[in-house]
Amino acid sequence: MKKLKVAIIGVGGISGVHIDGYLSDPRCELYAFCDINEKTLKAKGEKYGITRLYTDYNQMFKACPEIDVVNVCTWNNAHVPAGLAAVENGCHVFCEKPMAMSAEESEKLKLAAEKKNVKLALGFVRRFGKDAVLARELVENGMLGDIYYAKAEYLRRNGNPRGWFSDKKLSGGGPMIDLGVHVIDLVRYIAGNPLPVAVYGATFVKLGDRHQLHDKPNYLLSDEAGERGSGVCDVEDLATATIRFDNGMILNVETSYSLNIGEESRRVQVLGDKGGITINPDLVYHGEVLNRLADITFATPTRFAGTEYSDEIHAFISAVEGKEQIKATAADGVWLMKILDAIYESARTQSEVKIK
Ligand SMILES: NC(=O)c1ccc[n+]([C@@H]2O[C@H](COP(=O)([O-])OP(=O)(O)OC[C@H]3O[C@@H](n4cnc5c(N)ncnc54)[C@H](O)[C@@H]3O)[C@@H](O)[C@H]2O)c1
Repeated sequence: MKKLKVAIIGVGGISGVHIDGYLSDPRCELYAFCDINEKTLKAKGEKYGITRLYTDYNQMFKACPEIDVVNVCTWNNAHVPAGLAAVENGCHVFCEKPMAMSAEESEKLKLAAEKKNVKLALGFVRRFGKDAVLARELVENGMLGDIYYAKAEYLRRNGNPRGWFSDKKLSGGGPMIDLGVHVIDLVRYIAGNPLPVAVYGATFVKLGDRHQLHDKPNYLLSDEAGERGSGVCDVEDLATATIRFDNGMILNVETSYSLNIGEESRRVQVLGDKGGITINPDLVYHGEVLNRLADITFATPTRFAGTEYSDEIHAFISAVEGKEQIKATAADGVWLMKILDAIYESARTQSEVKIK
């Protein structure tokens, strides 16, 4: 069987777990790398034995029109331009989160992929966790009943990643677009993908980048990370929002890079009139047993483990082959961008923003 030729655009930090996914998939051949940073590009080329190396994705497509699949894991500002170039080349695209810098930009990529009839999957990796799978089964089996409230936190005490992450023109925003996006999507997924209708949000720039308080100033940067250059920090350090969905559910989400808290948190709660779940990081089901309130834990693993990055790539390739439905679709990416746009707009105008 002919293998799918895979190109990676953006070979920095997160690309490694995607590359592992393609390397462990016999249906794929790792074919070409592209990165604007020559040093990173050369290092990754040597590490994986890839010789087709490009600093410009347009040149890559010109030189290698035979590429079948493109994985975009650049800074956020290049997701859509790189994705559009790939779609134009007739490639199937896996795009990291967030899909774009705005909903308007994300729609362009969605429409282009539809027009070219290529697959487009989003990197909402939390959908692949054992917690998400179990949560969906609980929901589908009626164990939560009518879901009406959810709470999601992704709070760092002193975790500004710096570089492009803190430079709004490259990232589009701070913790809400970087971290909040994961837990908002997870709640949407567990609740059956309801559509957002209105948002009230607030953002704060109070603490900024205080990496100097760490012994290791670059503690968040792995050796694999791309050079993050920019010294700009103009994104929020705390964001919070109340999101109303078309099924009546309210989600309260809080996320920070810097916050004066004692304990960091990634707790997610989804609550219905028959039962609820807490993920922190194992999944606990709260319900009723023999007329008593019960908190049920599971003897099998229920937490996000990290291996899901490979799982999402394998699932994407199955979708490319037409054997599976895409779990995190372009439409999910666009809805998330609409929520994020509305949160930042609401923070700016200090009033509720409706989503259409
Ligand atoms: N799903 C997750 O859990 C997860 C985790 C981390 C990062 N991410 C996402 O992955 C993306 C990359 O994050 P990272 O941590 O790997 O950052 P990084 O800075 O380590 O790597 C990004 C790489 O992209 C390159 N790049 C930037 N613009 C480019 C362009 N126009 N063409 C080619 N290469 C370009 C940079 O030079 C860099 O090497 C971001 O969108 C981020 O939100 C997702």
